[in-house]
Amino acid sequence: MDKIHIRGGHRLNGIIPISGAKNAALPLMIAALLTDETLKLTNIPRLTDVRTLGKLLGVLGTDVQRSEGPHGDTLALTTPEIVSTLAPYEIVSQIRATFWVLGPLLARCRTAKVSLPGGCAIGARPVDLYLKGLQKMGAEIDLVEGYVLAKAPDGLKGAVIRSPIVSVGATHTLLMAATLADGETVLENAAREPEISDVARCLVAMGAKIEGIGTSTLRIEGVERLHGATHHVVADRIEAGTYAIAAAMAGGDVTLDGVEAETFESALSVLRAAGVGVDAHQGQVRITRNGERLQATDIVTQVFPGFPTDLQAQFMALMTTAEGESEVTETIFENRFMHVQELARFGANISLHGDKALVHGVERLTAAPVMASDLRASAALVIAALAAEGETTINRVYHLDRGFDRLEEKLSACGAEIWRAKA
Ligand code: EPZ
Repeated sequence: MDKIHIRGGHRLNGIIPISGAKNAALPLMIAALLTDETLKLTNIPRLTDVRTLGKLLGVLGTDVQRSEGPHGDTLALTTPEIVSTLAPYEIVSQIRATFWVLGPLLARCRTAKVSLPGGCAIGARPVDLYLKGLQKMGAEIDLVEGYVLAKAPDGLKGAVIRSPIVSVGATHTLLMAATLADGETVLENAAREPEISDVARCLVAMGAKIEGIGTSTLRIEGVERLHGATHHVVADRIEAGTYAIAAAMAGGDVTLDGVEAETFESALSVLRAAGVGVDAHQGQVRITRNGERLQATDIVTQVFPGFPTDLQAQFMALMTTAEGESEVTETIFENRFMHVQELARFGANISLHGDKALVHGVERLTAAPVMASDLRASAALVIAALAAEGETTINRVYHLDRGFDRLEEKLSACGAEIWRAKA
């Protein structure tokens, strides 16, 4: 297995181009199942999750043509017909988003058999909200040997679906299903992450009728069929937030290029509170930090527009050397503190109290061999290593490759000493 080595202590200076968002690219690719025409997606990040989903779509009947460009790949996805409605365990267990094919398969073929999902080990991550929503739309659902068997012999019907909690994946799945359902579907308490809006905009370009994009109530009037479209994937606010935190940790002057500040404003305002310079201007965000120590700052993870759970680990890494005590509260996932014990290897002082972590800032971190436990936790280890004294080795970097496009290249272009040892 590949390893990443980082020699800490270099300031970061330069421009980092932000890639297309993984968490938009994946559902956008799945939307290709809704039409027999070609869906062309530009600004696709180069990630293993994209390749894994491409494999699944191929099994279901999608022809996936990929071409490389200087700013991400272009995918042309064409599904003339669905040749299989079975999404097998071997693929669905690798990334959770593959489970979302359930919505389009059921909408287009009236039947689907989809393995229960896998994904990062950050909590129980049930799928009850997806299933209840589809049942409200008239689907019959059974769980058999680890698979969801769903049928809607008379087609899906519009319904009013109020989710008790906000779920990104359930919103994606029900939104896609509703585009081809008979009548109007109203999704109340829907997720309104920028990636949901991006998918909704693409669906509209494909002929879907959706109102309320960007709000927590989505109204979808089902149509007979969707057609092809071309869509540019929104920038990855989590990648941008990660590099903003990396620059804050290492010090220096970094401009994040191609991302709108309002998509990760909650993270930027916490960085400002901690003493980081943040200057946003027309698709660029400049992050500066002089030599002064940062101030401990508290965060509570929330659904959008709150502080994203996908930046919690990275922010905790930043707080390990801040002055004072920072309280990090995780409200979205019940087991998303796996990085705490790895950060301790650098000399961080963190104690856990249920859904809270108390980070007592220390003067300095020292390099250590560490292990990536999930995607965003891996990024936290990279951030700690950038500031730690000595050479850190990060094991199990396949987690990073799932969600960060050319991470070593982007960081070394800004002066970081980071390299990959191929297995
Ligand atoms: C998406 O996961 C993202 N994944 C996650 O990013 C992100 O952390 C998460 O949303 C929250 O923002 C992708 O977009 C591919 P949820 P998802 O359904 O859809 C509970 C990353 O690192 N819940 O919004 O799986 C659930 O257990 C990944 O890129 C139910 O109880 O998240 C959790 O506590 C990790 N029942 C909460 O809702 C359900 O049926 C929010 O989960 C569904 C969810």
